Amino acid sequence: MRKKVVLITGAVGEIGQALVKKLASTGDHRLLTLDLRPMPSEFADLSIHVEGDILDANMLTRLITEYDVDLIFHLAALLSTRGEFAPELAHQINVGGTMKLLQLAAEQSQRRGHPVRFIFPSSIAAYGFPDLESKAAAGKVSEWEWNHPTTMYGCNKLYCEMLGNYYHRNYQQLASNRPVLLDFRSVRFPGLISAFTMPSGGTTDYGPEMLHAAAKGEPYACFVREDSQLPFMAMPDAITALLDLSTAPTESLSSRVYNVVSFSLTAAEFRDRVLAAFPDAQITFDPDLRRQGIVDSWPEDIDDSAARRDWGWSPAYDIDRAFNDFLIPNIRDRYRK
Ligand code: SER
Repeated sequence: MRKKVVLITGAVGEIGQALVKKLASTGDHRLLTLDLRPMPSEFADLSIHVEGDILDANMLTRLITEYDVDLIFHLAALLSTRGEFAPELAHQINVGGTMKLLQLAAEQSQRRGHPVRFIFPSSIAAYGFPDLESKAAAGKVSEWEWNHPTTMYGCNKLYCEMLGNYYHRNYQQLASNRPVLLDFRSVRFPGLISAFTMPSGGTTDYGPEMLHAAAKGEPYACFVREDSQLPFMAMPDAITALLDLSTAPTESLSSRVYNVVSFSLTAAEFRDRVLAAFPDAQITFDPDLRRQGIVDSWPEDIDDSAARRDWGWSPAYDIDRAFNDFLIPNIRDRYRK
């Protein structure tokens, strides 16, 4: 008999590591993890790990047929800054990889007569403002406003939300016997900040980079202006959002794509919080006009009232708790060792 598993792609990334740790700690799931990279040694016993490429269609087919995949967290992606240097590759990974996995999950749902749940992290990159005036005037944006992404990554995320919806509602709509369809659910994340891992290739990276550099005693030149404002979230809340959405009763969901956010702050406010914890930190501002352009196109805050109403989303870490209880003590501890 095939073994029932939760599949996590991109499992060695920032969200992946935190999710694997959390799911493994509950002991309720058998985890099948996939990443180009090996699992860090401290995670070695937590999952069946496959080192492989999300673009390897044969390998994906083999995994989906070998295991009874009940729930998928599809985290593998190439982030927004890196995607601008390699747009074609970003499209292949972010869209091609997602499309293949959606197709396999759809077929699997049909075969087993039960929907595979497909959880997909989307992003504030799905938004796009033409200028700073409209960004400031918009304030908090809800899910279906300003969906004009300016990055390849943002285009990919927005389109994959649509693809997920398609497989969820319309796949094989002309077939005489409609198959069992998969169960697609997505959260649009703001910038995520972890105490234990560093992001790479993203545009919200200046937040975590500033914090980790200060704890290491290294100078940091922030690549955006002081007044740049974006929404952020501490990693434990991102994991809570993924897990809570994955278990929310179907009848409570009025949408398949939800904004989630914890707090919003400017780069100067970020610096002030870092300085309050690390008074000797050397933080300067040296904006990179191209990355600044991406940040300027993303909303300064997002409206997550639909997630709060439909599935009880409520972040545990507001701005004070995120910095004082999670980020600062854990990051301090990490670099002291
Ligand atoms: N953190 C991501 C990035 O900056 C946005 O989802 O690319």
